[in-house]
Amino acid sequence: MPFEEEDFDFENRLVSTEATPSDSTETDLSLRPRTLEDYIGQDKVKSNLKIYIEAAKQRGEPLDHVLLYGPPGLGKTTLSSIIANEMGVNLRVTSGPAIEKAGDLAAILTNLDRNDVLFIDEIHRLSKVVEEILYPAMEDHAIDIIVGKGPSARSIRIELNPFTLIGATTRAGQLTTPLRDRFGVLFKLELYTPEQLAQIVKRSASILNISISDKGAFEIASRSRGTPRIANRLLKRVRDFAEVSGKREIDDSIANFALQRLEIDKLGLDQIDRKMMEIMIRIYDGGPVGLDTLAATLGEESVTLEDVYEPYLMQIGFISRTPRGRCVTKLGYEHLGIPYTPSGTRGQLDIFSPEVGNPNE
Ligand code: ADE
Repeated sequence: MPFEEEDFDFENRLVSTEATPSDSTETDLSLRPRTLEDYIGQDKVKSNLKIYIEAAKQRGEPLDHVLLYGPPGLGKTTLSSIIANEMGVNLRVTSGPAIEKAGDLAAILTNLDRNDVLFIDEIHRLSKVVEEILYPAMEDHAIDIIVGKGPSARSIRIELNPFTLIGATTRAGQLTTPLRDRFGVLFKLELYTPEQLAQIVKRSASILNISISDKGAFEIASRSRGTPRIANRLLKRVRDFAEVSGKREIDDSIANFALQRLEIDKLGLDQIDRKMMEIMIRIYDGGPVGLDTLAATLGEESVTLEDVYEPYLMQIGFISRTPRGRCVTKLGYEHLGIPYTPSGTRGQLDIFSPEVGNPNE
């Protein structure tokens, strides 16, 4: 076997889209925009949201329940805190795995003030019993609690304050239909363009008092895999290199030098991406290789490959998804400097994949 599991340090990946504790320090929180005005990118989401918020405020009602879906690191939590801020209400943040019992959710819901926002991250991971508490809460602003046991058990209804639920998930398809149907607004967050990320890098640099040139910002942005969380992380690492080498401004040459040292290539791929594609080429002849087989070879979970690695590699056209598995494309071969040898056995592109459609349109 040419690759061992120890070859990969999944946990400490600089270009990981997952939030790490160092992404939530006070400084990092200060980078998060607080108003829609300051929020860069996701223009379609922003312009619709502006109208829904204005209309809800005029009626004195809570915003309709919102489902945010898309790859990690694109600002779902940030967007919910902006929504709460723009609505002038409190935000309560929790996550699917953190709500273990029906009583945990009941306690959260009964403590919400009028029109508050409840944000549930990874909402697809709620247990069935907890999820069922949500249905009447979302629909009728009430929860039904069973008191007593056996024949004397009865259900009592507790009225709640009207509230907005914002659910976040990496894929809308992971939700059960009854839950998905209860959201009035569905927003798909897209990967950011390098131009948008460059704007985010410049905004963050100015908050952190870092001087950076346009080219320096673009160099970082174009290697951030469409993800603001990564862009902000790389900015801080590049600043370390700039400071140590006595540079007062981050320009493209110091950014390039630092990112080379961090082994993040021109397109933002790190060793793990390159090894994953190399495995697909050298062991599986470039594909098609089944997602589960690939995950087992890499020692990763299939959902992680699908939600974390693939979106960017597919966006830049290095990997394609076919009914019989994943393939490395000609562009992918070229990027790795490996001669392209079409196997002739590749499947057709899966145009019916549920990922392709946007239920928002
Ligand atoms: N920081 C992280 N995400 C951002 C965004 N979308 N706009 C502005 N700053 C950000």
